[in-house]
Amino acid sequence: MLKIENLYATVGDTEILKGLSLELKAGEIHAIMGPNGAGKSTLAYALGGRPGYEVTEGSASFDGQDLLDMDPHERAAAGIFLGFQYPVEIPGVSNLQFLRESLNAQRAVRGEEALTGAEFIKLAKDKAALLKMDMDMLKRAVNVGFSGGEKKRNEMVQMGILDPKLAILDETDSGLDIDALRTVGSGINAIMRKPDKAVLLITHYQRLLDEVKPDFVHVLAAGRIVKTGGPELALQLENEGYEAIAEAA
Ligand SMILES: Nc1ncnc2c1ncn2[C@@H]1O[C@H](COP(=O)(O)OP(=O)(O)O)[C@@H](O)[C@H]1O
Ligand SMILES: [Mg+2]
Repeated sequence: MLKIENLYATVGDTEILKGLSLELKAGEIHAIMGPNGAGKSTLAYALGGRPGYEVTEGSASFDGQDLLDMDPHERAAAGIFLGFQYPVEIPGVSNLQFLRESLNAQRAVRGEEALTGAEFIKLAKDKAALLKMDMDMLKRAVNVGFSGGEKKRNEMVQMGILDPKLAILDETDSGLDIDALRTVGSGINAIMRKPDKAVLLITHYQRLLDEVKPDFVHVLAAGRIVKTGGPELALQLENEGYEAIAEAA
């Protein structure tokens, strides 16, 4: 589904990704772990097409299409969802409005009809229930005044509504208490653990991986994948730290 080969990316004048290769097949969940500043968020942004993150070498394809050639909104419409480490607040725009516009914009690019108001509300209710999110919160302005954990749960509601093929989730577990972590974890499983979907889960901690069991774990250090393993690699990282493993690689 996603194939990244020898990717180099710069932010400003600094080269951050230095020859990163990674392949995700449908049905797989991959975790990426690595020290601060390794380039994890840069990878997520480069794949999402965020301005300022310039790919200078290498390739990335999504379902056989050249991803790097697509605009950010085309990438979203093709089925890529980006969950941010720091979700943005949008004052004056309600969650429901925002979600309906986003969904219908994506459907339009795909040549699908817009959902009616009633259809959309039913969908939003279903997904909010899955994430134990009150409908009142969906009526409020996007993320304004939400706690860190509420923002992350809200993001997972967005993900449920947009129903992407590939989710790239950047530290979705940061700021979550234990109950919220379980809710978010089971939400990710319910929405994305499917044979035709894939997830790239960027995280520092084992605890999210206890909920969302990865098929592969990669260590990202200094802009490259330096080690790949199964779920046991995450446990080893937690015990031994990144440095020992990155150096031994
Ligand atoms: N907008 C930016 N301008 C300049 N440097 C940046 C910017 N974003 C990230 N960096 C730098 O790129 C490196 C990788 O950052 P990032 O991808 O956020 O790492 P991670 O998510 O793995 O902690 C860091 O050294 C960071 O300071
Ligand atoms: Mg980051």
